[in-house]
Amino acid sequence: MEINSIAKGLKPESELKSQARPYFNHSVEFKRKFSATERAAKLEEVGLNVFSYPSEMVTGSDFLSDSGTTTMTNEQWAALHQGDEAYGSNRGYFLLMEQIRQTFGGDFASKNPNMPNAFLFHQGRPGEDALFTAIGRLGDGLIIPSNGHFDTTHANILANRMHPKNLFSHELNDPNSKSFFKGNIDLNGLEKLLHESADKIPVVYLTITNNTGGGQPVSMVNIKETAKICGKLNVPLFLDACRFAENAWFIKKCEPNYIGSTIPDIVREMFSYVDGFTISFKKDGLANMGGGVFLKENGLFIKQHPGIGNALMDHQILKEGHPSYGGMSGHDIMALVVGLRQVTDESYLTHRINQVKAFGDAMLAYGIPIITPVGGHAVYVDMNRFAPGLKPGDFSGISFTAILLAAYGHRACELGNFSFGSYDPKTQKEKFPRMNLVRFAVPRLRYEKQDLEAAAEAVSEIFKARDDLPAVDVVYGKELPLRHFKARFKFRELVKP
Ligand code: F0G
Repeated sequence: MEINSIAKGLKPESELKSQARPYFNHSVEFKRKFSATERAAKLEEVGLNVFSYPSEMVTGSDFLSDSGTTTMTNEQWAALHQGDEAYGSNRGYFLLMEQIRQTFGGDFASKNPNMPNAFLFHQGRPGEDALFTAIGRLGDGLIIPSNGHFDTTHANILANRMHPKNLFSHELNDPNSKSFFKGNIDLNGLEKLLHESADKIPVVYLTITNNTGGGQPVSMVNIKETAKICGKLNVPLFLDACRFAENAWFIKKCEPNYIGSTIPDIVREMFSYVDGFTISFKKDGLANMGGGVFLKENGLFIKQHPGIGNALMDHQILKEGHPSYGGMSGHDIMALVVGLRQVTDESYLTHRINQVKAFGDAMLAYGIPIITPVGGHAVYVDMNRFAPGLKPGDFSGISFTAILLAAYGHRACELGNFSFGSYDPKTQKEKFPRMNLVRFAVPRLRYEKQDLEAAAEAVSEIFKARDDLPAVDVVYGKELPLRHFKARFKFRELVKP
């Protein structure tokens, strides 16, 4: 009998409950051991601020960020060795520009030396700083609308005396909504805002996927419609493109008409509608470092601001280094070239996003309230439903993340009342954001199913004891900008053993 005819009688591989990962471990790091008592003592020493807690003492999984935490592939490690650390025009720069053209479209890295339009930076935020410094000089009272600005993007806009404005979709806050694209911008809100104040809006932003809005994707229809509205009023459209490949996967799987398209084709279509983008390559670049600003050659933004390319280059030279490395090392550039090529592999993306979904499903099975459907890179716990007994100023997310780290060794990150709230010393009042979340960001290619299951179980134990979750008081830094990175806290009551 032939093997094929025997195999034909069996259940197909794709229908099995568990699928093998489309990769295997290339090298691993053993964790050091720390007891719950040692972890608690260290947390108290750092004022319950999980950012200040040593990562070597994270004995569980580190969900603080999916940024720069990617496990690199063997091809990336091999490419790293080919890094050329020349001060000017290193080998990797040319390869990267070619990869940018292939991934995002030919007009985002011009071959015309008189038309600089691709600008490298050492990560995402210095690129945002350069762009918003240039835009901020254009006038007073400018507004930058978005489907959800990330915290550093928000801060860079504010630092340049402009106003960030989030136009979240209505579905985002609706637990009953079955929308796959809760990351969309509110198109009616945008149209109204543009009609009222287009002259005050230098650019509209779409963050794909919407990190601040639960990591939810943005549909192609929403990108197209946003571009149409912006086009009518002559306002350029940009993407904050950190998680472009994950967003493209959702478009393929959830949006009619794209099921037969390849991920690279979907990516190029997404970018064909916009006039520029900023990106941190620490996410879907699969790289540990890197970022950039890319302006479409002959796009509306460049046409409106012909001097912007030179302003960005001056910024690079003053603050980052020669524009051909823009603050990145030659070996990081080489690893990024490979990462950008590999990240659009569909079987990798399917595994990645299903892994994050399974993590969310494990939490749901314990009854833990999370934002659904689960987005591409993280599971977000809704603290207002997790600990309804605590008041907004009790900062339940800070309390929960500290207890999780002390008791079970997993590190997650509050993105809610403390991180996105603010304290006004004049009125002595706190202002709270619409959502009060704790994010479990899943690093790429790093953890296995059992790591995520262990974390879900740990969260469920704290959820069971949620009525005992103590409030925290801010003992330092409540009035500071970007306060979540700097503040210190203490529990209002002692944690019960
Ligand atoms: N935009 C988005 C949507 C981001 O998520 C980030 C970073 C940035 C811009 C800034 O990029 O870190 O390279 O300077 N997000 C990380 C996170 C830090 O944990 O979500 P960066």
